[in-house]
Amino acid sequence: MRGYLVAGNWKMNGSNAANAELVDGIIAGMPQSDSVELLVCPPFPYLAAMAAKLSGTGIALGAQNVSQHEAGAYTGETAPSMLGDVGCKYVIVGHSERRAIMGESSETVAAKFQAAQDAGLIPLLCVGESQQQRETNQTEAVIDEQLNAVVDGSGIEAFRRAVIAYEPVWAIGTGLTATPQQAQDVHRHIREVLAARHQDVAATVKILYGGSVKGDNAAGLFGKPDIDGGLIGGASLKSADFLAIAEAAWALN
Ligand code: 13P
Repeated sequence: MRGYLVAGNWKMNGSNAANAELVDGIIAGMPQSDSVELLVCPPFPYLAAMAAKLSGTGIALGAQNVSQHEAGAYTGETAPSMLGDVGCKYVIVGHSERRAIMGESSETVAAKFQAAQDAGLIPLLCVGESQQQRETNQTEAVIDEQLNAVVDGSGIEAFRRAVIAYEPVWAIGTGLTATPQQAQDVHRHIREVLAARHQDVAATVKILYGGSVKGDNAAGLFGKPDIDGGLIGGASLKSADFLAIAEAAWALN
C-alpha cells in the first residue's frame, strides 16, 4: 500500500501573515487519515517559522530547492543539512521552472538528489516534457533521460527513500491538466523504467502528478492505479482549494 501524498509547492508566494492563515486553514480542515500525508513547501525564508507551526500536526515540511554542495563558499545557496536542521523532511529537486529558468541540467539535478539523500532528506524528483516535446513524440525519451540521470547516479535502491513527480510542463500554471489517462500512461511508463532495474522499488515508490491539479479534477487523477497523489502549485495557496484536493485522496483510501 503506497498511500497518497498531497504536496503544496508554494513557489515564490507568501508572507508571514498569508502563510499563517493558509496553514491555520489546512490544520483546521485537514482530513483525519494516516495514509494521506500532507506536505507544504514554502519559500526558504519561512521554513523555520513553518516548522514551528507545523510541529505536532502531522503535516510535513519541504523546501523547493537545495544546493548539491555540503558547505562552503556558495553565496546564496542552502545546504541540505541546513534544511534538515530547520525541520524539513522533503526537498523538491529538478522542478521544471529550475530546469528551464535557472538552467539546471539533469546532472545537476542528480547531484542535488544525492546530496539531499546524504543529508537524510527525501528528495521529490520532478520530471516532465514540454508541449513541443509531447507534440513531437519525445515524452518518454525526455522522462527517461531525466529519470535515468538520477538512477545512474544514485542507484535504484535510492528510490526507496524518494518520491517522483510527473509534471508535464504544458500543464503547469496553464489550467490545462493532463487527462487522467495521459498522466496514468506516463506514470506507468516511469514505473516500468524503474521495474527494469528493480521490481519491488518500482512497485513501492510514490509517483505524484503535478500540473493544474484542482479540487474538481483530483479524484479522476488520483483514481488511476499509478498515481499516488499530487504536487500542487496554484491550488496549494488557498486552504480550501488544497483541502479539496486532499479530500479527493482521502476519499479514495
Ligand atoms: P500548478 O498546480 O499551478 O499548475 O503548478 C504545478 C507545479 O508546478 C507544482 O510543482
